[in-house]
Amino acid sequence: MDEDAKALDALEKLMATAHVRGQWQVGANRPENMRRSPDGRVFIDPAPQAKPYLWRWDVMRRILDGACVVLPESETARRSLLYMNPGLQRGTTQTIWAGMQVIQPGEIAWAHRHTVNALRFTIDTGDNVFTVVDGEVLPMRPYDLILTPGWCWHDHHNDTPKPAIWLDVLDVPFIGMINQNYYEELGETVQDRRNDTALPGGAVLRPLGETPVRAARTCRYGWDETRARLDTVAGQGADPCDGVAVEYVDPATGASALATLACYAQMLPPGFSGHRRRRGASAVHFVISGEGKIEFDDTTLDFARHDGMAVPNWTWHRLVNASTTEPAFLFTVTDRPILDAFGLYREQTEP
Ligand SMILES: [Fe+2]
Repeated sequence: MDEDAKALDALEKLMATAHVRGQWQVGANRPENMRRSPDGRVFIDPAPQAKPYLWRWDVMRRILDGACVVLPESETARRSLLYMNPGLQRGTTQTIWAGMQVIQPGEIAWAHRHTVNALRFTIDTGDNVFTVVDGEVLPMRPYDLILTPGWCWHDHHNDTPKPAIWLDVLDVPFIGMINQNYYEELGETVQDRRNDTALPGGAVLRPLGETPVRAARTCRYGWDETRARLDTVAGQGADPCDGVAVEYVDPATGASALATLACYAQMLPPGFSGHRRRRGASAVHFVISGEGKIEFDDTTLDFARHDGMAVPNWTWHRLVNASTTEPAFLFTVTDRPILDAFGLYREQTEP
């Protein structure tokens, strides 16, 4: 070892004891996605760890039925199943956790709150399934969207004779990444309610202590209204990549549905064959109805009713409706608000 090498070695040993690292040392662990442009310049763009993946409804339904058998009483706050992306240690994408929840007849998923933002997209329920968010009763009818924004009290109820099933989408991986996870139980099974008359036939008010107070905001978006809005927008033409799409926004502010998650309803017209696009945002798609596929560079996800899909960030893909006679409807959630908040969002479309 020459004198310069010895000096460098000694310096790096001192740095190690001082918990200091030089950028020249980091260079030894250069990201795999560091590449060179044709003119020789180094560049990096995101290399998603998540994989494109599809969770089939028939398999999920079998697992949900099995969970009701082996967990006749939910022993945790929720009887939830999570879509685990095969490319990740945890999560459906790097920021989003999605999955399905089932509540047995007569069951209550007890009141709690957390800084994690969450939403429910109803799949299969009867007339008397509802969520209470900060005291407000929100009926859950098929394909309704129910928001439980961060730190809002929420409990879920199934007062029908059959299991109630919905899609859960949460920002758990993101909140965990920045270590901002706070959680607490109410200490009572249910919270006080302000508007039980929202339920068919009303319901009995259960007196409780403190009623949580929070600025009221829209936390329920009915499917009938959403579907009607899609029909109206369809008359104005379709986006070449997304088909006909509407975003669920806070009507008071126009902001995204949740601080970290944006929600959309999409309609792929019959015969729709989308252009290729990649976005900085990752996405989860749930198939409301119809059949089609998402084509990626090295895989294709063939989807049908009630399947769930993960689309990783910065991954080329395109949407196709397999039917030439029927539209396909998707409910889509992305983490775009996180990227917009820091000016990070990018997208590219192939002509
Ligand atoms: Fe929760």
